[in-house]
Order: sequence, then structure tokens, then C-alpha cells
Amino acid sequence: MLAGELLTLCELGTLPPADQIGVLLTGDLHCDPELARRGGIGDVRSVWEAFAASFAFVAGVAGNHDMFGSDADFAAFRRGAGRHILDLDVRTLGGLKVGGLSGIVGDTKRPNRRSSEEFLDAIALLLLESIDVLVLHDAPALPERNQKGNEGLRALLDVGPPIVVACGHHHWDDPLVELASGALILNVDSRCVVLRNVPEVALTDPFRHPLQTNTCSITFEPPRRSSTCSKK
Ligand SMILES: [Fe+2]
Repeated sequence: MLAGELLTLCELGTLPPADQIGVLLTGDLHCDPELARRGGIGDVRSVWEAFAASFAFVAGVAGNHDMFGSDADFAAFRRGAGRHILDLDVRTLGGLKVGGLSGIVGDTKRPNRRSSEEFLDAIALLLLESIDVLVLHDAPALPERNQKGNEGLRALLDVGPPIVVACGHHHWDDPLVELASGALILNVDSRCVVLRNVPEVALTDPFRHPLQTNTCSITFEPPRRSSTCSKK
């Protein structure tokens, strides 16, 4: 559904042609078939396929509610052209070096969950890879704005490089924040955000983040749900 809405905007000229747009997905993409409410656990391969069919690339992570069939199905799906499901992986796509880690911290007997130690060790490794964009499902804690998230992840980003972090999982009313480290956090839970690249702005003002200066957003307002999907 969302892929179709964006394609319409491309056809209308509101957005550039779809083959010039890369898509980053932060997980928890399942919705019940009647579109009455978001959430629940289910197969999200059709969502990835819808984006991969029309856009330059689709990359991202699995949320804690995302299923991809059996283990063999998942392995086969990951090999598909134009889609990059990241789980401690780094890819260069559209000129951006993108790293990603799927899932959240939680009971490792359940799908798409790691121990806190394993999760944070993986994040630390990705932060050493000189990436431009880090795609996560979990979000860092933001207590100064009363926004929920992972405290360990926040501690790493506070001392990490000035990258863009796309995340979800916890709903933030204010989705964009820049940390003192220069990391720009964009929480897209319940949102679709369009980032435009305007190189001349970045070149004339090196102290402003090139993506931050060129950000506009399209926010879709689906039926609201609880502020943290893992509680469901
Ligand atoms: Fe989630």
C-alpha cells in the first residue's frame, strides 16, 4: 500500500522517478489484511517485494514482528535482486554506505531478538565501519524528550560518529533529533520520511549535516497503536 502511494507521487512528479529513489525499511511492516490496525506478527515479504519491484533498491532490517517464512525461505528471499535485509551487514547503495542490524534486545528463544550484550557488540562493530547510515529496528533512549528506547544503544551513539540513524519500534511524537555527537536520529515508526539530496547545500555549509539540511517528510497517519510494539 505504501509503495503504491509513493509510486503515485512519483508519477505525479511530486517525487523523483522511482528508479532514482532508494528505500530504507526499519521493520515491523505487518498489517492485518483489512488494514484496520497496524501491528501483529506476519509475513512481510510482499512489502519488500513491492518496493524492490519499482525503486532503485530497498534495504533495511527485520522488526521483531516480521516473518519471512521458514529459515530456508528467508535465506532464499535475502538472495533476491534489489533487496538487502541487513543483519550485521554493510552495503554501499546509491553512493551511501549503509549498515544495519535487525531485531531488538529480548528473549533469544523468540524471533529477531538478541541478548543485550550481543546486540550492543554488533552495533559497536557497525559503528567502526565508517558507515553513512545505520538502519535499526530498535531506537535509542531519549529521556530528555521523554521518548522511549534502548539506553545502551544511546550510550554508543553518544560517543559514536556523526551518522544518520534510521530506527523504529518505539513511537516518538518528535521523530528527529541530533545528538551532541552529531548523530542524527530519525525514528520512522508510523511514518514515511523522504530525504532529498541537495549537494550544493552540503558543500557550502560543512557544519550542517547534508541529510539534515535537505529533509522533508510525508507522514501517513495509520490507526494508532501502543507506543512500543514489543508490549503487544
Ligand atoms: Fe518492534
